[in-house]
Amino acid sequence: MCGIVGYVGPNNTVEALLSGLRRLEYRGYDSAGIAVLDEQGSVGVRKRSGKLARLEALLEQNPLQARGTGIGHTRWATHGGPTDENAHPHLGDDGKLALIHNGIVENFAELRAEAEAEGLELIGETDTEVVAVLLGREVARQGDLEAAFRTIVARLRGTFTLLAMHQDEPGKIVSARHHSPLVVGLGEGENFLGSDVAAFVSATRRAVAVDENNIAIITPDEVRITDFEGNSVEFSEYEVEWDADAADKGGWSSFMAKEITEQPEAVANTVRGRVSAGTVEIPELAALGAERLQTIDRVIIIGCGTASYAGMIGAYAIEQWARIPVEVQLSHEFRYRDPVLTDRTMVISVSQSGETMDTLMAVKYAIEHGAVTVSVCNSQSATIPRESDAAVYTHAGPEVAVASTKAFTAQITALYLIGLHLGRVRGTIDAQTQADAVQQFELLPEKLREAVESHDQIAQLAHWMADSRSVLFLGRHVGYPTALEGALKLKEIAYIHAEGFAAGELKHGPIALIDHGQPVFVLVPSPRTAPLMHSKVVSNIQEIRARGARVIAVVEKGDTSVLPYADDVIRLPLADVFFEPLLQVIPLQWFALELSTAKGLDVDQPRNLAKSVTVE
Ligand code: F6R
Repeated sequence: MCGIVGYVGPNNTVEALLSGLRRLEYRGYDSAGIAVLDEQGSVGVRKRSGKLARLEALLEQNPLQARGTGIGHTRWATHGGPTDENAHPHLGDDGKLALIHNGIVENFAELRAEAEAEGLELIGETDTEVVAVLLGREVARQGDLEAAFRTIVARLRGTFTLLAMHQDEPGKIVSARHHSPLVVGLGEGENFLGSDVAAFVSATRRAVAVDENNIAIITPDEVRITDFEGNSVEFSEYEVEWDADAADKGGWSSFMAKEITEQPEAVANTVRGRVSAGTVEIPELAALGAERLQTIDRVIIIGCGTASYAGMIGAYAIEQWARIPVEVQLSHEFRYRDPVLTDRTMVISVSQSGETMDTLMAVKYAIEHGAVTVSVCNSQSATIPRESDAAVYTHAGPEVAVASTKAFTAQITALYLIGLHLGRVRGTIDAQTQADAVQQFELLPEKLREAVESHDQIAQLAHWMADSRSVLFLGRHVGYPTALEGALKLKEIAYIHAEGFAAGELKHGPIALIDHGQPVFVLVPSPRTAPLMHSKVVSNIQEIRARGARVIAVVEKGDTSVLPYADDVIRLPLADVFFEPLLQVIPLQWFALELSTAKGLDVDQPRNLAKSVTVE
């Protein structure tokens, strides 16, 4: 939530900031703003409510000439509405200091009262403005930006990444990190700060992950990191895996469309290096030691939204292959239920961004209570994988659209690999089952490509269904979380009421929703590999059809059993039961995208949402 970028160097500062903000806009789009040191050496600010395009238009009318120091922000509103005044950057009351913030300052009321008592002028309603005026006053007192920054940072409670610059210290940005992400980009004669590497990946792929409770100070020629007391902290750099092109639309109408089509490669990349000669070996899990894995007696998977649905699907497979009881909990519920955790509990967190605050807090709780923590994550060097005992990266490439697609299929893949690794180490899976699963992984990219081709049929369907007010999704076993995911996609980007149900639950209440013409997607399991479940789902189809539902059946090719009862049939390649969700979700993703498009909505940036939810 909220994208942050900082730049010091000789190049076009406004363009460096805007380029970073364009790639960070998925983190929030309630407002955008930049501050630079202008040609007179004063702080110049432009900011606007709404999307980045409005700021770009403002800069065209009223340009800023910058001199190599600047900060930029794209906002997901917490304190204060999405207005021009509340947009970042905020200035100190002498106008010499500019500050941007990601997070929530919890002791803001107390700090605001203090600022007002001192007669400092506050224009807006944000916690950030209060920090800016207090910091401005502190710099005036101490005559030193870094020292003043440490004084103020030590007083803040809550979560924050802060970036500040001052006109008396050109060519310098100070930044602090406390429970919100911050990375440094290392250039040649220029340096960057960002809430993630997307902020600077078009300029440099050398990055430094700033640790919790550290301060990073950048100038064009130097990067220093200290703790909050000012003691130097050593750091090491890493190379960003993906390049700038990976985070561009590449000719697609939306990032979401591009990312749906990238799923064959995303899944192949998740598998790469973890499978050989018919067995699964995840080096990051192996590093935990076979003995430790053998003693695990319970697995808890945590995540939010789409990640939690991937977790639900993964749970079926891990339990089956590793014969360990697996449960799935929403990260934000986890620690409040005082869960029973021991050193034999494995807590697997699933998070695309690796920065979701709810999940991070749950992981910290698990660590404090002695559990073994494993992170399934897509973002290199994000906080959650760095805090965890083991990180299993999905390597799906950057996911920019707010609605998750390729991260979901890659997360399921990673969880399956974990299940197979655990099953092998614990001796609960035979060589043939392992080899069969490996073969499914090998065939998967081609099948995913075929599933992606369902687009044209789905686009037609969405065209006919553009006026739908409510859509239901039914599934059984791993099809159930897939149904939940299909419903979430539709709510999220097409703003249509949608619900996913376990097909067997229908008769226990939800069937009352079925009325004439009610669209229902039904995920039909394979009659070859799951004949019992298949027959039950076909019965469910008959029940809803008899009550007037419009049935859209998602089936494997060759399954003709549903033809008499389905209005539309979407046919997918054959796969074993566990691998069906990876294929079935693709038409559901296309459906949400096409309905959103038909309604003239912004597919990539749905209202009220942001990609990386870094507040609780
Ligand atoms: C929905 C979606 C969200 C995320 C959730 C967790 O399309 O993207 O539900 O899955 O906010 O985010 P991560 O995976 O970054 O922890």
